[in-house]
Amino acid sequence: MSSLPPRRGAYGFDAPYAPLLMALGGACLLALSAWGLWRSEMNSTRRAISIFAPGVGALWLFLNAGIYVYTTRAGKFAVWAELLDQLELKGDERLLDIGCGRGAVLLLAAQRLPRGRAVGVDVWSTMDQSGNAEQVTRQNAALEGVAERVELHTADMRQLPFDDGSFDVVVSSLAIHNVSGAGERARALREAARVLKKGGKLAIADIRHTRAYASELEACGLKITDRRSLGVRFWYGAGPWAATRLVAAIKR
Ligand SMILES: C[S@@+](CC[C@H](N)C(=O)[O-])C[C@H]1O[C@@H](n2cnc3c(N)ncnc32)[C@H](O)[C@@H]1O
Repeated sequence: MSSLPPRRGAYGFDAPYAPLLMALGGACLLALSAWGLWRSEMNSTRRAISIFAPGVGALWLFLNAGIYVYTTRAGKFAVWAELLDQLELKGDERLLDIGCGRGAVLLLAAQRLPRGRAVGVDVWSTMDQSGNAEQVTRQNAALEGVAERVELHTADMRQLPFDDGSFDVVVSSLAIHNVSGAGERARALREAARVLKKGGKLAIADIRHTRAYASELEACGLKITDRRSLGVRFWYGAGPWAATRLVAAIKR
């Protein structure tokens, strides 16, 4: 397991409305349960179930919110540190992070590229990540001590402003599912494949559509080297249905 140095930047919350809705739903169900308990006697099994069921639902939603917050604040950093180590970077590569947001993965990568370059593209959506802004990512790069080898671009992942074969490594974390429509996500994947050099490595972590990503990448001529769940540290809820999955590939 890779040791994760302390983070100095501030990385916000992925899709911040999601854990808020979970916690709010939990609070409403808890209030319903408390209200039921206060206003009536528990004189039958049916009555007891109708009082306690919302309470159990509340605990379930709080658990989901807690796991979500752990993943977005800590779990994803630990998993990505390991994934980047597994890429066995030499330290002089040009790496692209598609949908880099506030730099969670981009800056971990930059720390592994003392003679290389870590390039991030994003449209800086604050729905997809709280406080998302190019300036915030730039400040995080300075706080992590890697500003001189980080480059940021405002660009849509479906139209990357880079030449064919201009990157040794392409990564993306929790970003591609934000593009609506299978055809549009396929466009983003074709762009990722286009800008990757022959022999270059790609690693995508996402919560949905990873099977389709693998098919599209294969259609672009890449060889899929790994496709798997990234484990409980990368769950955005209390169950494997909220798991993040990896698609890794090499460009032939
Ligand atoms: C959940 S955040 C993840 C950010 C970062 N990769 C991380 O793991 O912390 C998703 C990111 O995808 C970006 N994004 C969404 N649609 C995009 C698009 N069409 N082109 C580029 N970036 C996009 C959002 O602005 C956001 O920064």
